[in-house]
Amino acid sequence: MITENPRIPLFDLALSLCDAMDLVSERLASHHKCVAYTAVSIADELGLSKEQKNQLLLAGVLHDSGALSEKERDDIATFNADRRHSHAELGYRLLKDFKPFHNIANIVRHHHVSWNDGAGSEHKGEEVTIGSHILRLADRIDVLRLADRVDMLVDKEHEVLGQVERIQNEIRMNSGKMFVPELVDAFIDLSNKEYYWFDITSSSLRSVLARRARSETIELDMEGLLALSNMFRQIIDFRSRYTATHTSGVAASAEGLAELSGFSERECKMIEVAGNLHDLGKLAVPKEILEKPAALTRREYNIVKCHPFYSFRVLEPVSGLEVINEWASFHHERLDARGYPFHHGEADLSVGSRIMAVADIFTAITEDRPYRPGMTGERALSILKEMAGESLLDPDIVSLLSSNFDDINSRRIAAQEPASRRYEDVMEIA
Ligand SMILES: [Fe+2]
Ligand SMILES: [Fe+2]
Ligand SMILES: [Fe+2]
Ligand SMILES: [Fe+2]
Repeated sequence: MITENPRIPLFDLALSLCDAMDLVSERLASHHKCVAYTAVSIADELGLSKEQKNQLLLAGVLHDSGALSEKERDDIATFNADRRHSHAELGYRLLKDFKPFHNIANIVRHHHVSWNDGAGSEHKGEEVTIGSHILRLADRIDVLRLADRVDMLVDKEHEVLGQVERIQNEIRMNSGKMFVPELVDAFIDLSNKEYYWFDITSSSLRSVLARRARSETIELDMEGLLALSNMFRQIIDFRSRYTATHTSGVAASAEGLAELSGFSERECKMIEVAGNLHDLGKLAVPKEILEKPAALTRREYNIVKCHPFYSFRVLEPVSGLEVINEWASFHHERLDARGYPFHHGEADLSVGSRIMAVADIFTAITEDRPYRPGMTGERALSILKEMAGESLLDPDIVSLLSSNFDDINSRRIAAQEPASRRYEDVMEIA
């Protein structure tokens, strides 16, 4: 039995979640991390408080969490073409319900509002904080860097310091228009220091940020962890109408099965967190594949297969999350070791991981999808029993589900209904 309450370093977890989001588009690789680093460095130049810098660090690593299709990401990667604010509003709606992120959500909400967006602007009258203005500047600086990165890949003579003047000029030209003049001055001071450019183009930027984050000691307890994972559940699921409530169903049925298996209250909450994060790696799967209602080609299936691997690797660096990660990420492993991606067998699969595998399939086959209704209980149970008979799923857990079918099924539905309403609410602006 697990007797310790988890104490999860918030920054480490946020950084891992940002790694997962950076998987969405190769073109924008490390965009979140670079923006966070630049925003905090500008805040350093300005002598802002530690708390403001912490908020900017978190806002930076999560700022585009509302833009989760590859196309949306590409749209916001053009310097002058960022007039659409809907992903910023969506990011705000996703982040704001997690209490510690309330201020961060506000910073994110206005990260595409220009300094001179005056009369007639949809943001007139709303308070756009200095944090949003810094994030706006850091975001556009990174878009200029990304344009540069393309040249760097094709041109071996190209090096980063040779581009500084061009980027400085472009930013200066927009001082007093897109950007607050004082912030532009702070960036120019920063950008005259070579280390800044070496850091943002270095492959060790993640560890530089992680070190910076580790010096902060904000820790999440069980409730905080659950709330953060609930927020992330939406970022994972809301990418596609087809899967908009899948994770809610998995988390609720896993929790129900854990209770029936004699898990303690704490362990039941942990498995709910694991359920929320089990498909985290799906952020790396293009939306077009997630939404394909027909059978997948071999290539597409191979891409889908990477998702539990990414869930595992993304959560791995977060200390205190080891057990939750196992329960979450082994949901496609099978008792006969023929699952994927690790080919763990009976000896390596804990009860929590076995529960997650059953909860995942059970939810997937019973939930309604826009292109087909869910299976009847009878049909679903017969499939699960067949899989248990073939040593794919744990027969004890399948039989627990079978004898408590109505209870687990109604828990699943009770979790999925509000998730579906929430999806409609949140997405109405998109
Ligand atoms: Fe953005
Ligand atoms: Fe961005
Ligand atoms: Fe999965
Ligand atoms: Fe799943």
